[in-house]
Parts: sequence; structure tokens; C-alpha cells
Amino acid sequence: MKRLNSQLQQDGAPLELILLIRTLLAGCKEISFRVSQGALAGVLGSTLSENVQGETQKKLDVISNHILKDTLRESGYVKAISSEEEDDVVPCNPEGNYLVSFDPLDGSSNTEINSLIGTIFSIAHAPQWMKPDDPSAFLQPGTQMVAAGYVLYGPSTMLALTTGRGTHIYTLDKTHGGFLLTHPNIQVPEQTSEFSINASNQRHWEPAMQAYVADLLAGKEGPRGKDFNMRWVAAMVGDIHRLLCRGGIFMYPFDNRDPSKPGKLRLLYEANPMAFLMEQAGGKAETGTGRILEVMPEEIHQRVPCIIGSKDEVDMCLSYNDNAK
Ligand code: AHG
Ligand code: MN
Ligand code: MN
Ligand code: MN
Repeated sequence: MKRLNSQLQQDGAPLELILLIRTLLAGCKEISFRVSQGALAGVLGSTLSENVQGETQKKLDVISNHILKDTLRESGYVKAISSEEEDDVVPCNPEGNYLVSFDPLDGSSNTEINSLIGTIFSIAHAPQWMKPDDPSAFLQPGTQMVAAGYVLYGPSTMLALTTGRGTHIYTLDKTHGGFLLTHPNIQVPEQTSEFSINASNQRHWEPAMQAYVADLLAGKEGPRGKDFNMRWVAAMVGDIHRLLCRGGIFMYPFDNRDPSKPGKLRLLYEANPMAFLMEQAGGKAETGTGRILEVMPEEIHQRVPCIIGSKDEVDMCLSYNDNAK
């Protein structure tokens, strides 16, 4: 089976980017190990602190953040970091050529129940003019990413990665510590009969989203003329992994509860990397008013609505917006 290195070389990734990705993955392997130790290593449970977004931090949020931050800072390849668990940009090497954004632990609420969690990341070029503590260089659209992916800490530890030449999925071989290419160049089916949404938020959605989901739920007897199944992992990394493997549509849509939070998921380190992976696998990733990858961020923790997955189903969902106009 092909190793990560040879696939990255085949995809034309520059040497420094390959080295950076390998450094980041060394951190993820350490997280994978800590996660697998669970209660034995005392890593479960909450801390007394909150992150900048008002979420109580789990111990694993903090541990994973430290592992990735320290690993990337020491590498020298990175000029600055933005993370879900850091209020501000973290300055690294002033000579570093890359910017890395990450969600160190996605699906924190799943840590206590030994369910799916992961790390999501994106990598962009650091502009020459940038000072390492200047957040403005992070405010570039997702189309500027040079690589993005996630590591899923499930029954197997898996990596989904794109450098803009398709999306490849690798499995960590824990006997020698290497990621082996198990699912090359995956293609998401264009049609699906599976959807993912936290339906407990239904009353806060826009009328178009309410109408779309109502038609999915109506099944064979409704206007869609077929039955749909529903799945919700409560970790985006798990839901998107399922979509990449067998198709589907995932939505964390516009929510009218708080005008400062148009959706729940964060653009830089959740929506953008998943959008890049999905588009590279032939799927779509939209906000409801445009492509996720074209959103110009205004701040590093910005949230966006997400409608991601099988192409035809995403288009179908968006057509309800057009009908509502
Ligand atoms: P995080 O654990 O990094 O804060 O992210 C959680 C996100 C995302 O992974 C998931 O899809 C969603 O929140 C779950 O939200 P609900 O609490 O509405 O299920
Ligand atoms: Mn969180
Ligand atoms: Mn997350
Ligand atoms: Mn997180």
C-alpha cells in the first residue's frame, strides 16, 4: 500500500509542505495515543476554563491544542497559528512560510462517551509582509488553502487529506506509525438518501430550510418521492467522514437565534477544510448564499452556515432558497 509521502510527491506537493504535514501528523498521532488511553490517562472531563467562543474546554481540547501548538512552533515551518482554543493568533517563526489553522479536537462532547472525535486543519501560505502576531493574513478566502484535512480518532485512526489534487484517505498503521493510502481519490456520489442535521434547532431555521427538511421527512409520500435516512454524530469530523465514504448531505444551517452567530461552525478551521476536501471529492460545500471557500473572513473565529455533501442534494437544498425569493 502506498505511503503518505509518495502520494504527496505524486501530487506535486513541495518538500517543505510535505515536511510540515508530516510534523502536524506527528502531533495527531500523539493525540490519537492519548485519546486511546481515555480514562486510564486521566484525560477525560472538563477544565474550569472557557474558550473565546464561550464553550467550556474539555481536558482533551486543551491537551490536543498544546500538542499541536508546540509541535508546529518547534518545526520552524510555521509563521503563525490560529486555533479554536486560542483567543488570538499564536506567533511562531517570523521566517516561517506557512499559516496553520486547526480545530484541535472536534466533537468534544463525544470524549466522555468514547465516540468519534478528530482534528481538523488547514494550511495556507504566509505572506512575506506578515508579522507573526498579525491576524489579518488569516483573513483570506478558503480558495487560498494549499492543503487541508482531518484526522479521525475512531476504531481506526484515519486521515483525509487534499493538496488540491483530489481527496485521499489514509489509515494509520499503528504497528509502524505510518499513514497508508487505503482510499485513493475518493468520489462522493452525486445523489443520496441520507441527511445529517441537528433537528432540535428546527424552530430557529429559515423558512426555506424548514421546507427542505420537511420534504425529506415526508419520504416516499412527499414531493421527493423517496425515503431518507438521518444520521447525526455530533462531531462534524464523523459526519463528513461518512459523507466522503458513501455520500449524504450535512447541514449546520443559518440560525436566527443570535445575529452575531449566523451558524455554529467556524470558517477557518471547520468549514473551510471540510469544504476543500468535499469539493476535491466531487461534492459541494455552500453557505446558502455562496461557496464556503469564497467567504472572505472578517475575524479568525468567524462562524458560517454549512450545507455540505453530495452535489445534487446540495443543489436541491439550495433550490428551496431560490423558491423562497
Ligand atoms: P467542537 O467540539 O470542536 O466545538 O465542534 C463541535 C461542532 C461540530 O463538530 C458538530 O457538528 C457540532 O458542533 C455539534 O453540534 P450540536 O451540539 O448541535 O450537536
Ligand atoms: Mn469547541
Ligand atoms: Mn469542531
Ligand atoms: Mn474543537
